[in-house]
Amino acid sequence: MSVLAIRVLGDPVLREETRPLAEVTDDTRRLIDDMFETMYAANGIGLAAPQVGRIERVCVVDVDGAAYALVNPEVVRTTGPKAKAEEGCLSIPDVYGDVERPSCVTVQALDRDGAPFEVTAEGLLARCFQHEIDHLHGKLFLDHLSFLKRRAALARWEEEKDQYPGYIRILKPGGSGSEHPEEEL
Ligand code: NI
Repeated sequence: MSVLAIRVLGDPVLREETRPLAEVTDDTRRLIDDMFETMYAANGIGLAAPQVGRIERVCVVDVDGAAYALVNPEVVRTTGPKAKAEEGCLSIPDVYGDVERPSCVTVQALDRDGAPFEVTAEGLLARCFQHEIDHLHGKLFLDHLSFLKRRAALARWEEEKDQYPGYIRILKPGGSGSEHPEEEL
């Protein structure tokens, strides 16, 4: 397994629509394993393929030990009241914003072996699923912010982005995650 470089805001791959997979192959499994490794190295709780420069429709999530590899995931149902909470993103380090999303979500996907499954989640896991599936359609949490909050977040990013020449974030060995108390997705 390998820790992959993370693409940060400004890399056009983050705005691309991903390609659904006709089947789960050994290549897909290698990508999934590398994505888990990368996510853990970054102390993240979710990671989507475009964040490592790939356009397969694949993401991984691990919220409090509930780990999922999702291939071709789709939100099939949202229920419950909307909930607002602060989100960050491994592709926009040190930038955070409050995002309102449905509090409960049902997702269908293929697992690492290509078997279909359905999962219903609430709380942080539901939020993480929605954030990652957004990534698979070229959407970032910034897009959910109000005009003013988005402008503030982008101004914050202006101060950070020079640390990532070529829009590449190289993770330091042994974990280099954010010291921010909120988790990044
Ligand atoms: Ni993200």
